[in-house]
Amino acid sequence: MKKVIAIYPGSFDPPTNGHLDLIERGSKIFDELVVAILRNPEKHPLFSLGERRAMLEALIAGVRNVRVDIFDGLTVDYAARVKASAVLRGIRALSDYEYELQMALMNRKLNPALETVFMMPAEQYSYLSSRLVREVAQLGGSIRDLVPAMVEQKLREKLDPAVKLEHARERRTKTGKRE
Ligand code: PNS
Repeated sequence: MKKVIAIYPGSFDPPTNGHLDLIERGSKIFDELVVAILRNPEKHPLFSLGERRAMLEALIAGVRNVRVDIFDGLTVDYAARVKASAVLRGIRALSDYEYELQMALMNRKLNPALETVFMMPAEQYSYLSSRLVREVAQLGGSIRDLVPAMVEQKLREKLDPAVKLEHARERRTKTGKRE
């Protein structure tokens, strides 16, 4: 039987619990799911592509049919390169719908054979976005429950280099390495 491969494209800056929820749901209905991070020269992300890839890879470790990749150019061209027949996107609220519909129809115009599949994340993530997570973290608010603990730590390190130093020191103490 034909394997159904889907891509889940996005910025993932940073990955949130909403993204993970969608990846989990997608992994159950597709044979293979490729989480595809867009290399977007027009955006100035908080996390580099390498950092986002490393975080996502750590977060999906153990999910056998999901992998992470980086792409540039058109989503439809990337989908063709990895032989995907579907694009997975999340719809949180009605406000997402217009933008998502536009993208889905544009992608269909570019490649009528590529289907967009919308899934809804769990309702506790319906207000969650990477942009809001960045903003709340930058302004010192708590992002616990919104992102995985590892992303929370990376965000704190990114926003406060002193925290990064402290974490490195803790790791060295645990492994018994001298400063
Ligand atoms: O996480 P985001 O930022 O909402 O993801 C947006 C993304 C990456 C799905 C979208 O910007 C995209 O597909 N960009 C690739 C360029 C492209 O194909 N544009 C035309 C289709 S609308």
